Amino acid sequence: MKTVMHVLGAIFSCFVLIGCGGKEEKKKEGFTYEKKTDTTQKEDVNENDVVITGNDLMKFNKSEIKVKSGKKVKITLKHIGKMDKNVMGHNFVLLKQGVSVSSFGNKASAFSKNEYIPEGTTDVIAHTKLIGAGETATIEFDAPEPGTYDFLCSFPGHYAIMKGKFIVE
Ligand code: CO
Repeated sequence: MKTVMHVLGAIFSCFVLIGCGGKEEKKKEGFTYEKKTDTTQKEDVNENDVVITGNDLMKFNKSEIKVKSGKKVKITLKHIGKMDKNVMGHNFVLLKQGVSVSSFGNKASAFSKNEYIPEGTTDVIAHTKLIGAGETATIEFDAPEPGTYDFLCSFPGHYAIMKGKFIVE
């Protein structure tokens, strides 16, 4: 009988532990949410200091970036996914005005050895290197003339979704 009680006791303890585990999960979710809020606040410190993320769902977290003219621009690209750069690579490519995202994207897909930047291209104002899971790439360049420019990820097939407007005010 004692043994039976011990076994029952052990089973009961397991339930209690599982219950506790569940609560911890909830706490973690709450923490993640707070962290995201903090990041957003930091991004606004310097308007020409831009942080953009790319994920495993082939998406940037921004479709519009606004900067001020006559200053340096700093772009920090973070890959927040888990996939390798060979299958879910991301870069940030800012195109000169008049260059279309689709024609550049199509051309770039042939340049896998150059991280999908056409060699000797004159279509690009600035670009980061190609990155994969957990990596970060930062570039700095002078803001171009006021106007609207296109940016994209030039990894094959990504430009259809991974693109946006870069507005210099
Ligand atoms: Co990409």
